[in-house]
Amino acid sequence: MEFDKSKVAITIMNFNDLDKICNCLQNEFDDFWTYDILKEELSSEHSIYLVAKIDNQIIGFAGFKTIFNEAELMNIIVRKSFRNCGIGNLLMKNILLELQARKIATIHLEVAKNNISAIHLYQKFGFYEVGLRKNYYKDDDAILMELTIN
Ligand SMILES: CC(C)(COP(=O)(O)OP(=O)(O)OC[C@H]1O[C@@H](n2cnc3c(N)ncnc32)[C@H](O)[C@@H]1OP(=O)(O)O)[C@@H](O)C(=O)NCCC(=O)NCCS
Repeated sequence: MEFDKSKVAITIMNFNDLDKICNCLQNEFDDFWTYDILKEELSSEHSIYLVAKIDNQIIGFAGFKTIFNEAELMNIIVRKSFRNCGIGNLLMKNILLELQARKIATIHLEVAKNNISAIHLYQKFGFYEVGLRKNYYKDDDAILMELTIN
C-alpha cells in the first residue's frame, strides 16, 4: 500500500472512531476484537486506546489497561491492507510514550506462539519472553512477554 507516512496521525481513540470501523472490524482488522469488547474497553477508565488515521481513515489501533503502575497490552492491530508499512511501529512508539507519561513501570502482554509478525514487533521494542502458557489459545500456546519502561 502506497501512502504518505507523514500524513499518519495518532490520536486517543474515542467512540466515534469505534463507530467508524464497526462494520469492517472483523474483515479488515482482526476477527477476535468485536465492537462490544472494544466498546467496553473504551468505557473503562483504566484503558487507553490509540488510533492511527490517514486522511480520516482508520488504519490501526492499539490499547493497554493499567493496574497501579503496571500495564497490559490488550491489542495492537493494523488494517490488513496497511500491514508491513510501519504503522505497527508507530502505534507501539506512541503506546510507550503514553506509558511513560503515566509513569507505568512495566507492561506485559500475551501473544500466540505462531504470531511471528507481532513477536518481531514486540522484540524490536525490547519486550522479552517471561513465560509460556500451554494451549492458552484454541490452537496455540501463548508466549508471555514483558518490557520495563524507562
Ligand atoms: C502485528 C501487527 C500489528 C504489525 O503491524 P505492522 O504495521 O504490519 O508492522 P510494521 O510494518 O510497523 O513492522 C514492525 C515490525 O514488525 C515486524 N513484522 C511486521 N510484519 C512482519 C512479518 N510479516 N513477518 C515478520 N516480521 C514482521 C518486523 O520486525 C517489523 O520491523 P522492521 O520494520 O524492522 O522490519 C500486524 O501484523 C497486525 O495487525 N496483525 C494482526 C493483529 C495481531 O496479531 N496483533 C498482535 C496481537 S494482539
